Amino acid sequence: MLLRARWHLGMVTTGNLAPGLRPVCAGFMIEAVGLGTPLCQRLGIEHPVLCAGMGAAAGPDLVAAVSNAGGLGVLGAAGAPPKEVRRRGARVRELTGRPFGVNFIIDDDGEDDREYIRQEVAAAAEQAAAVVLFWGDPGPYVEVAHRAGALVLVQVGSANEAHAADAAGADAVIAQGVEAGGHVRGTTPVWELLPQVVAAVAPLPVLASGGIGDGAGVARALRLGAQGVSLGTRFVASDEAWAHPEYKRRITASTAAETFYGELFDAWWPEAPHRVLRTRLVAEWEAAGRPPRGQRPGEGTPIGTLVRSSGEKTDWPRYAVGVAGPDFDGDIDDAPLWAGESCTVVNDIKPAAQIVRDLVAEAEAALGQSPEPASSG
Ligand SMILES: Cc1cc2nc3c(=O)[nH]c(=O)nc-3n(C[C@H](O)[C@H](O)[C@H](O)COP(=O)(O)O)c2cc1C
Repeated sequence: MLLRARWHLGMVTTGNLAPGLRPVCAGFMIEAVGLGTPLCQRLGIEHPVLCAGMGAAAGPDLVAAVSNAGGLGVLGAAGAPPKEVRRRGARVRELTGRPFGVNFIIDDDGEDDREYIRQEVAAAAEQAAAVVLFWGDPGPYVEVAHRAGALVLVQVGSANEAHAADAAGADAVIAQGVEAGGHVRGTTPVWELLPQVVAAVAPLPVLASGGIGDGAGVARALRLGAQGVSLGTRFVASDEAWAHPEYKRRITASTAAETFYGELFDAWWPEAPHRVLRTRLVAEWEAAGRPPRGQRPGEGTPIGTLVRSSGEKTDWPRYAVGVAGPDFDGDIDDAPLWAGESCTVVNDIKPAAQIVRDLVAEAEAALGQSPEPASSG
């Protein structure tokens, strides 16, 4: 099994080495030093660290910074028109020559929706190394991405969903634990789910997401058979994330116990569990006895202006989904501050490249102290 920090690869010559692989002896045998995994080779990246597509928060600046640092930046593009996907992809291309990904939500509402998503995926695959799909059946989109040469990664919340993604032709799955920030498909802690998914879809590569915010978490995921990790909250607290400074600060000041998991922010995307920081709005709703939709405090009143990733502006009603960007003009306590339990270990705001470097150095140190694969986390 691929459970080590060091990968011994046979029959590889220096001509086709992926970044990060250093030949340490002549001939057919090389030793990959560092955290590089076979999935890194397929993606053409150095470190097995993905920055999750996070809607407007994961814009071109963040994506390029992560990719330039040797990880895979994933552009948040859910719902963006194909023309906008191309425009934002082209902006990433101006900032980096390295591989990057593009993320879409595939929660479709019939064939018209599916056709729209197919066009989004086709537009992304013109420039991206991978598309990362979430919240639905990836079947209708795999061929579209593959035709353009992009890999398909599917974020899943269960071993059954992972099986289905594998059967649909996915190139890798991301096992999302219930600790995750943003919308949460998983209902199981990631440390239970990850080994289940690895066993269910082997030899398909598996990444871990949810609750991972430091190198110790990365190392633990690799020990459990992951070939990479996908982190959201850690990268919201980066210089480049397109997020309000107070939102970033609160992530660094919060712990897992200060997150809320439920379906409170359901306008524009109902019946979709998510995890956010416990803001005053969450406390007010709880103090009101957790009333159902339609009877919640201030329901429907605008909280400010939502600026979408395309720059389009719209009124933002209470309990509606969206990202509080740098110029959010309302009260930050009314906005959904998406964050995972990983906020416990996210205690500073720093450049995304530094985040990647620190994660890798910490994980290498953790794995160096325990070089043999552990039987459990
Ligand atoms: C601010 C934010 C926005 C997110 N938006 C998306 C999204 O648009 N698409 C998606 O596939 N996942 C999204 N997610 C979930 C991530 O893919 C990932 O599962 C999660 O961030 C992992 O947990 P962590 O935040 O503890 O790292 C978002 C997460 C956050 C924190």
